[in-house]
Order: sequence, then C-alpha cells, then structure tokens
Amino acid sequence: MKALKWVSTEPIKKQEKIGRNMPCWCGSGRKYKQCHEAFDRKIDRFAFMGHEVPTRDLLKMEEDVQKCRESARINMAALDAVAEAIRPGMNTLEIDKIVYDVTTKMGGIPAPLDYEGYPFSVCTSVNDQVCHGFPSEDVILKEGDIVNVDCSTILDGYFSDSSRMFMIGEVAPEVKRLVEVTLECVEIGVKAVKPWGFLGDMAEQVHKHAEANGYSVVKEIGGHGVGFEFHEEPWVSYVSNAGEDMLIVPGMMFTIEPMVNMGKADIYTNEDNGWEVHTKDGKPSAQWEYQIFVREDGVEVISH
Ligand code: MF3
Ligand code: CO
Repeated sequence: MKALKWVSTEPIKKQEKIGRNMPCWCGSGRKYKQCHEAFDRKIDRFAFMGHEVPTRDLLKMEEDVQKCRESARINMAALDAVAEAIRPGMNTLEIDKIVYDVTTKMGGIPAPLDYEGYPFSVCTSVNDQVCHGFPSEDVILKEGDIVNVDCSTILDGYFSDSSRMFMIGEVAPEVKRLVEVTLECVEIGVKAVKPWGFLGDMAEQVHKHAEANGYSVVKEIGGHGVGFEFHEEPWVSYVSNAGEDMLIVPGMMFTIEPMVNMGKADIYTNEDNGWEVHTKDGKPSAQWEYQIFVREDGVEVISH
C-alpha cells in the first residue's frame, strides 16, 4: 500500500464502555464478563505501558474469517490462472484481463480497480519496479524478467490480498536468488508472528534475513491490516525491530509483503502517473505477499 503511516495508541478502555453483564462487543451474545473482558484488560495493560494496541473494530470474528477465506479463494484462483498463462512474449495487460475475468466470473470484484484512482485490476511490477506497476500492452515479458503480480479481491464486502513473483524463462542466478530469499523472508515473518508479541518481532526477522543475504528492505511502503477494508490499520513495517510497533492480538488480520531490493533501499515514484514505484539504482526488486490471520494458537495464512 502507499506510503502512509497511521497508528493507534487509543487504549481499548477509551472505547465504548460495556457493563460486565452486558452482551460482549464481539457479537457472541455472551455476557461481556464471560467473553472479552479479560482480553480487553490484557490489551489495556500493554497500552498503559505505552505500546500501540489495536482497536476492537479491527478484530475479525470466525464468521468474518470465513468470508475472507471465500474472498481469498477467488484471489488465489486468479493468481493460479496467471501462473498457468504467463510466458515470454506476453504483455502485462493480458495479465490484467486474466485477473479481471477470473475474479468477476467467480463473483468477486478486483479491489484495485478505481481504488484511489488506480486504473487497473491488478499490479504487475517488472524487474526494477518495486510495486504498483501498471499493466500495459507495451510491457512485453521477456526471458530473464521477474514480475510481481499483486492481486486483491472483494467478495461480499470482504477483502483478500496476496502477491507472487513469476520468473520468465531462464532468469540469472543472482536474480532467482533474490526472488527465493524474498519468499523466505515472508515465511520467516509468518513464523515470527505470535499473539501477544509485536509487529516489530516479525519485521526484525524479515529484514535480518534480507540483509544477511546482502539485500535491503524498502522503508516507505509497508503492509497493512486487511479484511473489512482493502487497507486498514495497522500500517506494517518490515524494517522495525523486536518489541516495536503494534501489539499483535488474536483476531488481527494483516499482510506480510516486504519489498526486497537487490541493491539500495531507495525508491522513487513515477511522477507522470503517481503510482509506479522503482528502485533508484535501477536494480531489481522482489515482493511476495501473504494475508494472515492471528489466532490464540497460531497463525492462519488466508491468501498467498
Ligand atoms: N495490492 C497492494 C497491496 O498489497 C495495493 C495496491 S493499491 C492499488 O497493498 F491501488 F494499486 F491496487
Ligand atoms: Co497488500
């Protein structure tokens, strides 16, 4: 998502007060004191210690998660269809058409289309493009290219979002390695997400792995909460460190989508269209994106 950072330090206790015998805010129908009261108190203690904490409107209940899974089924089907079709000589507008057709045939809406003026159904970012690449008839994929296809779907008002890298034909070994290490970064990041830990615990593992391989991680553009909206709180950094950023609690859904550069971390945005982001040094950049849900007992990957 775009380079915005918004945070919440609003403790849960400053949200709507609920009597202990009143129905819980989560919609379970149970009394608050038998449902989320202890959970809210636990979050309050972290807020009191000065940590950023999620507000309850971000938390997804089981019915919401099911809706997100159904949205993600379409999202992943669109990416699978791209994987089947992608080949040297294809232009990236053909990828846009595949994503539009698969998504709408399955009853979904491509979330990027008209999102803040974005004019396509998908982002296709080639080689030195970091993200938000415009599909185009003039961008013809050739042997040795790498391309990120970033797909997002709305179904019944629920959002899914994930992206994959594709390597076109034979790719130079050092570029292939960038693609592989970036996927490892995401998988290491998923493993580092623990309820009652912090987003920074995950971010530290992600950028350490990238840096250990000689790469850099983009600072200005991060991940995001997702599910009820395309982009909701929290903004998710992959350059912060353990113990920093928002507390992770069960019910949170967000993306892990670091942009990993082979060279320097610096980027610039195409001024003509205001969207397409490139590396300043012209070296390749890779990104994979997983949408994850945090449960009491671990993490569920919703879209990949
Ligand atoms: N899919 C991107 C993300 O992972 C967002 C793209 S914004 C768009 O957050 F408008 F370009 F679609
Ligand atoms: Co995203």
